[in-house]
Amino acid sequence: MDIGTGSDSLIIKLAKIFPKSFLTGIDYWGGDWEYSKAQCQRNAEIEGVSDRIDFLKASAAELPLNDGEFEIVVSCLTFDEVKDRKNKTEVIKEALRVLKPDGVFVFLDLFKDEKIFGDEKELLIALKVHGVSELNSCKLAEVIKLPKLLLNKKVLGNAIILSGRR
Ligand SMILES: C[S@@+](CC[C@H](N)C(=O)[O-])C[C@H]1O[C@@H](n2cnc3c(N)ncnc32)[C@H](O)[C@@H]1O
Repeated sequence: MDIGTGSDSLIIKLAKIFPKSFLTGIDYWGGDWEYSKAQCQRNAEIEGVSDRIDFLKASAAELPLNDGEFEIVVSCLTFDEVKDRKNKTEVIKEALRVLKPDGVFVFLDLFKDEKIFGDEKELLIALKVHGVSELNSCKLAEVIKLPKLLLNKKVLGNAIILSGRR
């Protein structure tokens, strides 16, 4: 599952890399972004993967999905955008709820931005206390070479990849 699938660029790539996978892309598709469910469905059809992706309009704050439904959950630059839940740690926990025990997660977000996510160390501790069995954290800039402009804290300077297993 991809939380905050936007215009579905990531989920389409995943569907192509894993040709036997069945995926779900969820998004709020509110007014802040010019994305829509119809656009996602059209893109998936053009890319020939529409039979393996379900799109669901829902908030990341309250996923209308059962506990442990997914083997893998990913999310890119979405938790910071969720306005209907002030406490972003709770939004991350909601994403982990739908992941099956021992399932894998990869979340990219501005986790170093204290104003949004609070102290990063406390966030990691909270997730560990919540029961996450494996948790890794690295700066996006350590994984890919970002142009100087994007290293600005207002762009991707605060971007961290949190990954691990539930
Ligand atoms: C910065 S865009 C990222 C889109 C996509 N993940 C990507 O990397 O291209 C943020 C996305 O979060 C979605 N979003 C904002 N609030 C949301 C919420 N409460 N629940 C689900 N999605 C939300 C927006 O509609 C938008 O598609």
